[in-house]
Formats: sequence, C-alpha cells, structure tokens
Amino acid sequence: MGIVYTASAPGKVILFGEHAVVYGRPALAAPVIHLRARAEIEETGAPDVLLRAPDVGRSAYLSRTHADNPLAAVVRVVEGRCGRSLSAGYSLSVTSAIPIASGLGSGAAISIAVIRALLQYLGLADSVSREAVSEMAYEVERLHHGTPSGIDNTVIAYERPVYFVRRDPEPQIETFHPARPLRLIIGDTGVRSATKDVVGDVRRRWEREREGFEVIFDACGRLAEAGRTALLAGDIESVGELMNENHAWLQQMTVSSAPLDNLVAAARAAGALGAKLSGAGRGGNMIALVTDETEEAVSAGLLAVGAMRVFKSDVG
Ligand code: PMV
Repeated sequence: MGIVYTASAPGKVILFGEHAVVYGRPALAAPVIHLRARAEIEETGAPDVLLRAPDVGRSAYLSRTHADNPLAAVVRVVEGRCGRSLSAGYSLSVTSAIPIASGLGSGAAISIAVIRALLQYLGLADSVSREAVSEMAYEVERLHHGTPSGIDNTVIAYERPVYFVRRDPEPQIETFHPARPLRLIIGDTGVRSATKDVVGDVRRRWEREREGFEVIFDACGRLAEAGRTALLAGDIESVGELMNENHAWLQQMTVSSAPLDNLVAAARAAGALGAKLSGAGRGGNMIALVTDETEEAVSAGLLAVGAMRVFKSDVG
C-alpha cells in the first residue's frame, strides 16, 4: 500500500441572509463541525488517477472524465494554482456524511476536503492559506453554479462562524465568536433541491420585479447585521426572533416550500426560540434555535411531522 493522505471539511448552515448575499447584502454562516466530507489519496505510481466516490458507487479514470466531473474539476483547479501536474500516480477517494443538494454545503465541503488532500500530497499543506483554499473552492463552485456568492467555500474553509459580504474584487470576511454558544437542530425535509436552479429562479424573479426584490434583500441584510449584534451580545432570544423574521422574507422570496414551512412551524410549536430554512430552499434543510431544555422536544417534534432526519450542531 502506498502512502495515504487524508483530509476533511465540514458542512455548513446559513444563519441569516441566504440569496440576499448573492446581491451584495451581508450574511452569517456557521460550520457544522461533526458533519464532514472526507478525501483520501493513496500513492499508486499508476499512469492515471483513479477517482472514486464509493457512497454513490462511482469511479472513473481522470484521463477519461468529462469537463463537468466535479472531482476532476477540483484536480484541474489545484493543478492550475500550484503549477504542478496531478494527472498520474495516485487514487482519490471521497466520502461524505453531508446530505447532497440540501443546503448544507456538501459540494463545497467535498471540494475543500479534496483540495486539502491534494495539497498534502504535493507537500504544500502548510504553505497554502485557508484563504487560498477557499479561493480554489470558489473557482470550482463557479464552474457548477454560475453566480455563487462565495459564502459556502468561505465558511467551510475557515471552519468558523463568518460574517460575509460579497464584494469586488475581494469579499469582506470576518470570523466571529458568539458570546453564548448556539445550539441548533437541523431538520431535513428529504426533498433534494439544486442550488443552481433556485438561485437562477430568484434571479429571473428579481429581473422582473427589481424593486420588490431589492426591498426583500435589504431586509435580509439588515437581519444579518442585527443577528451579528445579537450573537456578539449573547442575546439568544433576539437571535431566534430574527431567524423567524428572516424565514418570513424567504417565503416572500418564494424559496420556502410546504415541507420547509411545516418543519419550521413544528420546531416553533415544540419550543424553539426561532426557526428558518437554511441554504437555497425549495427543499433541503431548516434550522431551529434551541436550548438544553427544548432540544429533545424540538427534535421529536420535527421527526413527528415528517423530517427525514435531524442533526444537532453547536455554533460557537
Ligand atoms: O448551497 P446552498 O444551498 O447552501 O445555498 C447557498 C446560499 C445561497 O445564498 C442561496 C447561494 C449563494 O451562492 O450564496
């Protein structure tokens, strides 16, 4: 067996400001540390690279992949950035505990796990910054999504809660520490929803009704600012109320759905301080802010109304 290099990256939730962040408004996101994607590279000395995704039963040789193969795209971006050939001599295997197409950043987490494993393989792990890792993942996200804001790759590469504003040429990125840790219950509708499609649909609606959508985006941006202030002050009750308000604006944006609204209502009824969809919407996951006293009831309430699964995640 050849030398093995392993790396991982977490999933993420968006606390405030999804979609509006694509239009330059601030947003807050946090890593989901225990839900991770993993990449393993083994030196083989072979004349090609075997790419494997055993979770989905797929494998392919790098030399025979199409341009849209996501793992091949990551390899090409790292090759381009590092100026070193990565087209032979190893196998690359990827697994992930993060549900796909569900707003938890699975694509960006897989990209970043692979980037980190490749950097180790090249002996560059210590000389490449988190910022550079995030930029490489952003390049890959752009190939798949068209107009990503960059918040997913940022929060996943930094593995810290971030305040993020999309800007040219550089985004504004500030990591922050909530004064009191937050406990979230993440509820999965089980409905898969492609970020690219939802982001594209919001763009078409914005083009048709610019004024109305600008009002919604402004409101979401203000909630992200207020959310950061409340988090820094340890004012958990206000964070919950702001999450509820953000969900209402996301409904106005048309990105919620009956299953998401159902889980959000169940979480609130079971005692959550606040609840909202998280990520692109129209499916995927929602988050509920809970306390030690309410966490069991909220998890049970979500499962009782049909959540496919629930995860616990601490922020802070
Ligand atoms: O990848 P998702 O589904 O978590 O969505 C990312 C958040 C959006 O604001 C909807 C898109 C973006 O690029 O920021």
